[in-house]
Amino acid sequence: MNDQRQHHILRIDSSMFGDKGVSATLSNAFAEQLLALDHTSTITHRELIHTEIPHFGTETISAIAGGKAELSDQLIQEVQQADTLIIGAPMYNFGVASELKAWFDHIARAKVTFRYSSEGPVGLLTGKKVYVITTRGGYHQDKPSDGLTPFLSAMLDFLGLDDVEFIYVEGLHLGEEQAKVSIERATNTLTAAAQQHYPQPEHIS
Ligand SMILES: Cc1cc2nc3c(=O)[nH]c(=O)nc-3n(C[C@H](O)[C@H](O)[C@H](O)COP(=O)(O)O)c2cc1C
Repeated sequence: MNDQRQHHILRIDSSMFGDKGVSATLSNAFAEQLLALDHTSTITHRELIHTEIPHFGTETISAIAGGKAELSDQLIQEVQQADTLIIGAPMYNFGVASELKAWFDHIARAKVTFRYSSEGPVGLLTGKKVYVITTRGGYHQDKPSDGLTPFLSAMLDFLGLDDVEFIYVEGLHLGEEQAKVSIERATNTLTAAAQQHYPQPEHIS
């Protein structure tokens, strides 16, 4: 982690339920934990359901070519400025929310966030830690029905974001008890991740 300057966190939420979504509730709690462990950290919260991100098409390509893609530019800048990304990624119909897909479409820009080389694509958003909090009604981890993890892993890696931790919160629609256990487990995992992220003196061996 960077010790010399302020650490910046970008929290991206994509729940259709806004801040009431399980993923957003957990991403918020995790961000609060990180901020409590390092008071000098700063945060940007990008809530995608409150961001009108158009489907990526020829209009956006023309806007980029003409230097008039303000929203895409801003979304890219937010990632470039972040040291840590927290992504709330609910599973909807076996994949990511369409808003999150649109966000990736807008931040994937040749020569800015990735470039092509003779050895293949090279991601340019390097040196950042990413936490993905993915919530699901059922159980999909490591099964063919999990279309979200392979997409996010490939997309993040393509952009150079290769230090990624997935936190799975599954079985949320399979009864209150299962949901409670799953949320508790994720909360504990996130608490441990926060302490590892900013080791306090007593945690440094
Ligand atoms: C439109 C819609 C589609 C969903 N599709 C799936 C799915 O394919 N698989 C699954 O396990 N859960 C599915 N769910 C359940 C969500 O993953 C679950 O409600 C989760 O809590 C959503 O995260 P959020 O509360 O952060 O929005 C779906 C929920 C909705 C509303």
